[in-house]
Amino acid sequence: HSLSTPGHDLEILPSALLMVNAEGVITSFHKDVKSEDVDRLVDTTSTSLYRLSPSQFLIPGFIDTHNHAPQWAQRGLGQGQHILDWLSAITFPNEGRFRDPAHAQRIYSSAIDGFLRQGITTASYYGSIHPEATNSLADLCLAKGQRAFVGKCNMTRNSPDYYRDASIEQSLQDTESCIAHIRKIDPEGQLLKHVLTPRFAISCDAECLAGLGQIAARNPDLPIQTHFNEAEQEITATKELFPQFDSEADLYAHYGLLTRRSILAHCCYMTPYEFDKLKELQCGVAHCPISNMTVGGGFMAAPIREFLNRGIKVGLGTDSGGGFSSSMLDAMRQAMIASHAKEVESKGKDKGLKIAEAFYLATLGGAEVCCLEKKVGNFEVGKEFDALVVDWERDGVMTMVDEDEDGLGTVFEKFVMTGDDRNIVRVFVKGRVVREVRM
Ligand code: GUN
Ligand code: FE
Repeated sequence: HSLSTPGHDLEILPSALLMVNAEGVITSFHKDVKSEDVDRLVDTTSTSLYRLSPSQFLIPGFIDTHNHAPQWAQRGLGQGQHILDWLSAITFPNEGRFRDPAHAQRIYSSAIDGFLRQGITTASYYGSIHPEATNSLADLCLAKGQRAFVGKCNMTRNSPDYYRDASIEQSLQDTESCIAHIRKIDPEGQLLKHVLTPRFAISCDAECLAGLGQIAARNPDLPIQTHFNEAEQEITATKELFPQFDSEADLYAHYGLLTRRSILAHCCYMTPYEFDKLKELQCGVAHCPISNMTVGGGFMAAPIREFLNRGIKVGLGTDSGGGFSSSMLDAMRQAMIASHAKEVESKGKDKGLKIAEAFYLATLGGAEVCCLEKKVGNFEVGKEFDALVVDWERDGVMTMVDEDEDGLGTVFEKFVMTGDDRNIVRVFVKGRVVREVRM
């Protein structure tokens, strides 16, 4: 189909059958099945059959590679503020409130429901600094059935007393206890993993970064996330704190925090040396086009085409609440807008993203960034069934479909560019329905 792009092909199948076992694993995929053949292929005495209605299609679930759960109730605030000002004025006072477990419970419950409603089947969350609140975020993801990385945020300096870890030792100890909590509630890591989460080098003393690097080395299954080369204000402050390093790549690599499990948010300002370093160390990039160009971020479009050209893993992040929207469809659209700005800036060299590429970033690209590409990201036999049922006949803003004229590719384009959560009527994670809109 014309929507496909070499390397990031989008395959549109008008009539297919997926079989999923009780563990939520895809066991077979028939790519061209007539409706009347389904009865022969499926034994309905032992298997339940779910047929899409004529106005529906199925897509892989969205993977949000960068999301701050405690910022759920501050989305949209502080437009245009530079990162360090925005953190001080809006974010730290808000995140400080998560010392109260009841507050954390209330906001996190609403946040996870909100992300599932947007079809986010996997999220990589920053929590607050508080271990109790972070554990309840993990509990709630498990109870609601969302696949998630959950990180206690490490912050040992450069924030007010009310929102800073008591000491470096305490910060690392709390991290270890949050790791233990997730290993207890989901021992096989079926849905959850702890993610090591130094907020960024400005918030972390060198010994804290070193301690987290050691925890990362001792726990080779755990992902790592931080903010990386986001904004001029942040890069300048980082250089002042760590004058011994020429780049953030060297800084984080020195502390053992750049590995193939690293998820680096933003990466707006990249030198050729740093591109090479991320590629060599197989780090993943969480591209957050909304926050990059509105609040906190660098007011800068990240070099998305260059990441793709260089074969650096890249996915999309809503960066909710630096990003005002918790919708991955919005993130895809803004990724396209930002990429067009980059095309002009590069005098036509770095081409804008196609719809199929934005969709790849929101699904399989995100899975690669999270090292989950063997588990999720697309429909393949052996992967787990994380999927969204999209219905184009819902009241909302999605461009009207002309069933006589529009091919499925056109319908898909209409959904990506104008659909919203009202069109996402069922959400599956690991074969289980985790959200459903009653028809
Ligand atoms: N850098 C450090 N903390 C944050 C945050 O919460 N949001 C963004 N966008 N950048 C950050
Ligand atoms: Fe962020």
